[in-house]
Amino acid sequence: MISIKSAREIELMRETSLLAAKTLRFIEYKLKPGMSTEDINQLCHEYIIKRDAIPAPLNYHGFPKSICTSKNEIICHGIPSSKDIIRDGDILNIDVTTKYKGFHGDTNRTYLIGNVRPEIQRMVERTYQCMMAGIAVCRPGVRIGDIGAVIEEMAHDYGYSVVQEYCGHGIGREFHEEPQILHYGKRGTGVEMKPGMTFTVEPMINFGKRHCKLLDDKWTVVTKDKSWSAQFEHTILITEDGHEILTQVPDSAWSAADNQI
Ligand code: MF3
Ligand code: CO
Ligand code: CO
Repeated sequence: MISIKSAREIELMRETSLLAAKTLRFIEYKLKPGMSTEDINQLCHEYIIKRDAIPAPLNYHGFPKSICTSKNEIICHGIPSSKDIIRDGDILNIDVTTKYKGFHGDTNRTYLIGNVRPEIQRMVERTYQCMMAGIAVCRPGVRIGDIGAVIEEMAHDYGYSVVQEYCGHGIGREFHEEPQILHYGKRGTGVEMKPGMTFTVEPMINFGKRHCKLLDDKWTVVTKDKSWSAQFEHTILITEDGHEILTQVPDSAWSAADNQI
């Protein structure tokens, strides 16, 4: 069942999504080579709980940390660790999901740590473009297959591949709701978008081949060919005449207090 959010529920989705987006904006300026992904996890954890929210990944199906940190050839679901140090030239995806007043907001970005090889920098920028192109088609009456079709075409034009095993998802009272949002596929397929739907768009784009491998920890997903991988994620709302990106921080919504734990 695909839930259609009421006006009140949409307000709560806006609040939780704004908090998730603020957490990313907060952490972005703290990132420094030499930090561990566990340091990043702790900062995000504190930031979220101080605002009376819950980091949704913590204990989700047994996930041991509050955020996912996915570096270089890690596609998604990387587990923060004090042994995992970020270094100059790395790329790091930070995926934040908040649960606030009963609703989830889910967003991630891939950050460049120091000087990253130009071809990898370009892949990261273009992964963002792919996500935004997928979001751009979203409005009532369009089918969700169009999102994946647009993303896949753009990624392939650039010579990259699109991960198929993990996808976007409806979101609301539950972390993962129906429908699944594929990042590949055919136009005109899948369910029709309707006002009040909320879902994520979160393509994972690989520099090499699309295939992935699950590590022994049963969470960390890496590329099979060890090529690097980038991802961006927004939570969006379908409105009467288009869509709204919920996991953005308008400059007017950012104050000095948002910069501190
Ligand atoms: N935030 C991820 C997503 O975008 C899901 C992480 S599940 C976890 O859907 F258990 F690994 F945290
Ligand atoms: Co998600
Ligand atoms: Co996420």
